[in-house]
Amino acid sequence: MRFPKEFIDELRNQADIVRVIGDYVTLKKKGQNYWACCPFHGEKSPSFSVSPAKGFFKCFGCGKAGTVFQFVMEIEGSNFPEAVKTIAEKCGVALPVMANDDDAKYAEERDKQRDELRQLNIWATEFFESNLESGEGQIALDYLAKRGISDDSRRQFRLGYAPNSWDALSGFLQKRGASKFQIERSGLVSLKDSGSGFYDKFRGRLMFPILDAQGKIVAFGGRILGEGEPKYLNSPETVLYTKGQHLFGLNYSRDAIRRQGFVILVEGYLDFLIPYQHGVRNLVASLGTALTDNQVRLLGRYARKIIVNFDPDSAGVNATKRSLELLLTEGFKVNVLTLPDNLDPDEFIRERGVEGYGKALKNSQSFMDYIVEQAIRSHDQASPAGKVETLNEILPYLKLVKDRVEMTEQVERIADRLKLDSKVVREEFRRAVETRADRVSETAVAAQMAVKPAEKTLLAALLNHANVRRRMMRQLTEADFKQLRTAPIWKLLFDFEQQGFEPSYAAFSEQIYDAALVNDLLPELLIEVEEKAEEAYQREAEESLLSLRSSRLAEQQAVLQTEINQAQRAGNAEQVNELLLLKFELAKQERAIMNQMRNSFS
Ligand code: UTP
Ligand code: MN
Repeated sequence: MRFPKEFIDELRNQADIVRVIGDYVTLKKKGQNYWACCPFHGEKSPSFSVSPAKGFFKCFGCGKAGTVFQFVMEIEGSNFPEAVKTIAEKCGVALPVMANDDDAKYAEERDKQRDELRQLNIWATEFFESNLESGEGQIALDYLAKRGISDDSRRQFRLGYAPNSWDALSGFLQKRGASKFQIERSGLVSLKDSGSGFYDKFRGRLMFPILDAQGKIVAFGGRILGEGEPKYLNSPETVLYTKGQHLFGLNYSRDAIRRQGFVILVEGYLDFLIPYQHGVRNLVASLGTALTDNQVRLLGRYARKIIVNFDPDSAGVNATKRSLELLLTEGFKVNVLTLPDNLDPDEFIRERGVEGYGKALKNSQSFMDYIVEQAIRSHDQASPAGKVETLNEILPYLKLVKDRVEMTEQVERIADRLKLDSKVVREEFRRAVETRADRVSETAVAAQMAVKPAEKTLLAALLNHANVRRRMMRQLTEADFKQLRTAPIWKLLFDFEQQGFEPSYAAFSEQIYDAALVNDLLPELLIEVEEKAEEAYQREAEESLLSLRSSRLAEQQAVLQTEINQAQRAGNAEQVNELLLLKFELAKQERAIMNQMRNSFS
């Protein structure tokens, strides 16, 4: 049985989490929260807490956390629909008639909504396409020409233009016969903050239809023409579109992928379109995120070999590493291609041609060589401590090599590259297997992206105090958080602020896929063990922001220093000078922030 999402949201809002959980354990109020001995593990002093204001529980002892639904599922050993029934009963909320043991009817309704949305998406695509041919769309045509997309390509991929209007698309859809209700649910419009009604979501953008593997249009991405934020705007989730389920281009490339026996994974729309137009057909785009296991399984139907070709920037490196773990676990043979000079596939092919790209593909590295090289580059190889860190970063990936023979070869290679005795590498590896957590994400990747104390303090202040949040959001920019481990939380905070939502645990947990953030960090931040005055939060928030900014500048200088060393070794004096100037500039900014900190602390 499946309940409509609206009903679940409604029930979550109405259910008194303290009363429901209070039926199972004895809760004591302390400040805004309630505490008890955890029912899920044996303990003598209470580390199990419930936050009614934020609608979730968390045990700091065993780590279990979640909403009222997860609590009931866990304690009753029930599945989701059963838990929904239990909670609805306890809270005196009537179950929706439609869903009441009436699977078929609900499924029918959902199918109907899917069909309707498919039709709306077809109309929208036709509308966007036709705009390209009319007067206002000329700027988009010019832009396509500038990006090197041919007329044939843009017709094949059904690119279009969303005019700079609040109601052109919705008016068009209504004229075609779509109801207001259908348009509201389509993801093509945004609901107005006040009153009722909606307005076109995509305005003045180049439009890319996103298709499922069967070739049905499920969503859209829209690129701004020229500068501005966000660069790409994407459809929200709808009955047809769930994030992390689709891969851009797969319906066009699936046959070529099967034929060639491997797939190239790129990040962006243009990184797909440009190679495709030039004859590289066996690729898909993840659209700027690390892969999900659904996407990996989807790909696995077409090939078992993959070349990951993400941007060489730090976001791309992190996305590559996170994707590697999933791909290897699913048994893919993985290579990594890093293009020179910070080029993405689109830029590379337009600058150096498709022959150059073919050569680069042939020279792509095995995933292990890639990991080793990354690790070597980010630690000081002259010091023993640096060597140890390098090895620590590599070993978790070695565990992902399933083949014994290959494993032995890899150990030799790693020892060779690190100038270590292979016995040492083998010994360290054995120790790592025995003692350390056995997931890469918990060691190398997570350690690389540890959550900083200032990051926690600032987030806690933002999450727990609406006034502080409002004030701080005005000073914060994307650069402040985009490199942080907690970036997904920040991003949502901004989205919620724009949409006028109060941030809630449930809303975060639905939209963030990083379990460590959802199950551990968020509850920790949201449960206020010690309640503080608003001024205290405000002061902490400001201090933490300064400290994050200064440590970011320090990190950037360290990166520049490595590049300076490289340029020096290569004898490129001009580049050395340029980089030094950049580094001086950063140092100046860092000093300014340090002064500000000194003033505000004293
Ligand atoms: P990039 O920032 O690397 O852009 O984002 P790009 O693909 O090279 O874009 P161009 O060449 O400037 O047009 C990679 C992908 O991440 C997603 C998009 O799918 C994009 O193609 N993205 C990026 C977003 O969804 N939103 C954004 O604001 C930025
Ligand atoms: Mn690009």
